[in-house]
Amino acid sequence: MQEVFYFGSGPAALPRPVLEKIRHELLDYRGTGLSVLELPHRSDAFFEIRDQAVRGLRDLLQIPEEFAVLFMHGGATSQFSMLPMNFLGSGRFADYLCTGFWSSRACAEAARFAEVRKVQALCKGESLSIAPHEEWDVDPQATYLHFCDNETIQGIAFPGVPQVPQEVLVCDMTSSLLMHPVEISKFSLIYASTQKNLGIAGLCLVMIRKDLLEQVNEPVPRLYDYRRYVREDSVVNTLPVFAIYVLREVLDWVRTEGGLPVLHQRSLARSAQLYRVLDESRLYENRVAPGFRSSINIPFAIHDAGTLEDFLRQAEQRQLLGLQGHRSAGGVRVSLYNAIPDAGVDRLTEFMSEFEARRQHT
Ligand SMILES: Cc1ncc(COP(=O)(O)O)c(C=O)c1O
Repeated sequence: MQEVFYFGSGPAALPRPVLEKIRHELLDYRGTGLSVLELPHRSDAFFEIRDQAVRGLRDLLQIPEEFAVLFMHGGATSQFSMLPMNFLGSGRFADYLCTGFWSSRACAEAARFAEVRKVQALCKGESLSIAPHEEWDVDPQATYLHFCDNETIQGIAFPGVPQVPQEVLVCDMTSSLLMHPVEISKFSLIYASTQKNLGIAGLCLVMIRKDLLEQVNEPVPRLYDYRRYVREDSVVNTLPVFAIYVLREVLDWVRTEGGLPVLHQRSLARSAQLYRVLDESRLYENRVAPGFRSSINIPFAIHDAGTLEDFLRQAEQRQLLGLQGHRSAGGVRVSLYNAIPDAGVDRLTEFMSEFEARRQHT
């Protein structure tokens, strides 16, 4: 059978060697006699997994000492509520830069119970782009500024860290973390769900500058209080042990692949390969302006509904899976996370060119 390539946006493909390692260790975790699925969250074996995962993240991302690395439940969506719960209220407000679906959703959630200013930064002309920072209606008095560096659905990305007057910069890096090096010290808080590049669903990673904890409002529910996660090394209640174990294995794999600079170059080369096909095409349309194109999530339209259906069906016959666009956007979306082998991108781009050529001859 032909190898399956899965381009889903998350839960996403896992590296093959990680899946094999999990299978190997599943019934007896390193002589404990327990499956890793059964490990107690307060056992030494689990503490070792957690600590190694934190160390792995610190090494790969060069996380400075003044940041705490935390594991939480609830995915990135939980952070949409936790941020205002911890830092807003009592006359404080936040700015939210909105460039697509997820940053707008974070803003809407915060607005449910705190004062927020929605800063529209997405330009919807002939192509999609992000307005220049001089045009953003931001307020230097805001307690924090929130943005999403890579919009997973629109496939639009900031070309660098945005220039803003706020000192406290908060970023949702759910779909970009571990795709390239990040200058962590430019941020105060970074969060990411783990089901894209960091493993499986059920876990959210948070990196927070510790001095920010002094600004936490009282009272915050126990499970949603950042200070408690720092004090208790993330073990506030029963943690998703398996998801943290998978994270540790993924981090090991990233290291053996050469680390973030190597993965970044690979990511740029693969996305360029795909954009070349899109740019030469009269059938596929990507609407994002060059300069703001994501190298990670690449959506495109096929305007005729019947042709789109044929495309997805024929792709599936070639074992190219997970290409359906988000339910809010339709079309096609290709997610090129780290675990996708180069051969997957080759097969996909060959298929796309062939599909278009065949249509021109019918
Ligand atoms: C950028 C971004 N933020 C937030 C989320 C929400 O993540 P979760 O469903 O894990 O809460 C997603 C999910 O795809 C995402 O891509």
